Amino acid sequence: MGMIEPGIKPANPRFSSGPCAKLPNFSLEMLADAPLGRSHRAAVGKEKLKAAIETTREVLGIPADYKIGIVPASDTGAYEMAMWNLLGERKVEMLAWESFGSGWVTDAVKQLKIDAEVKTADYGQIVDFATVDFNNDVCFTWNGTTSGVRLPSGDVIPADRAGLTLCDATSAAFAMDLPWDKLDVTTFSWQKVLGGEGAHGMLILSPRAVERLESYTPPWPLPKIFRLTKGGKLIDGIFTGATINTPSMLCVEDYLVALDWAKSKGGAAGMIARADANAQAVHDFVAAHDWIENLAEDPATWSNTSVCLKFADARIQNGATFAKAVAKRLEKAGVALDVGAYRDAPAGLRIWCGGTVETSDVEALMPWIEWAFEAEIAAQTVAA
Ligand SMILES: Cc1ncc(COP(=O)(O)O)c(C=O)c1O
Repeated sequence: MGMIEPGIKPANPRFSSGPCAKLPNFSLEMLADAPLGRSHRAAVGKEKLKAAIETTREVLGIPADYKIGIVPASDTGAYEMAMWNLLGERKVEMLAWESFGSGWVTDAVKQLKIDAEVKTADYGQIVDFATVDFNNDVCFTWNGTTSGVRLPSGDVIPADRAGLTLCDATSAAFAMDLPWDKLDVTTFSWQKVLGGEGAHGMLILSPRAVERLESYTPPWPLPKIFRLTKGGKLIDGIFTGATINTPSMLCVEDYLVALDWAKSKGGAAGMIARADANAQAVHDFVAAHDWIENLAEDPATWSNTSVCLKFADARIQNGATFAKAVAKRLEKAGVALDVGAYRDAPAGLRIWCGGTVETSDVEALMPWIEWAFEAEIAAQTVAA
């Protein structure tokens, strides 16, 4: 049972959690309109950058009075730029429940050395937001990409908070409903849910975040690549397409194509529905098999993008070796690439379910997971 190869393979075996699958039937010819060899400060370049900003606003429903900038160094650049510019004015609560959130904790505690209260939860769990005082600044990751645990909603964040919320939404934007009135800083990168390219980050600022930028100067130096203000005023150009340094116009074109595709799929709502359907296909499979479980304990926190799974079978001798062997077997069979758990996370599989993945491919993959599991159980027995 389960050892016979399933008949159907996913048409696209790309289930990586970043860079993620490009939109269905992607080809480089789709990028033919990229203004290559032209200055990004020429009218044609500026128009493309502005379109990237304004189409992001349109698709994600970002309020007109929020600023949206394209910044260097992907999500990491955008998030650290926010931390370095805004934090230190008041106490900060650093919330982390997996590896990326933990990285931001290190920044606050060891690099910025600010007054920080750190609240963490183990892989599979989430920090209790009811314990958070939103009069402090609060840093968190909406969807923990390496644990598959997400914040179920923004209801726990008060509208009348005195502190700022800094949200790393890199594996949430375009897949989860982001409540803009609860988020003062939101960051993401193109390489995730839209299947775009790395290296460019999106920085979204609420009017209150802008107010902080214009009224507070952090005590530490800021390199040019991080500077958002000049003479106490926001550098507005960054938020209209005059980037701090040179962007890749090829990546910008790729992002514009992905945004157009997302619009054709019903915009944010359509993209959320696609991710939900993909994740449901995994959840249904997990519910039907007792040897595999969602790493996220509370179903309300189950991610619909980076779905993390763990094996639960008494016959498994070495969990980490076993999970790696299953992932390798899936890759060798050409049915799933890059589905091993993140290097710092508990052993298991991580199946990307963002909207660029087709539900038929997720469904086709599931029997292969059973096949690889049974094959590895058998291989263990032979080896013993
Ligand atoms: C939650 C989260 N934050 C930050 C990052 C880093 O993103 P980037 O490599 O685009 O800077 C990732 C990438 O996987 C992520 O998932």
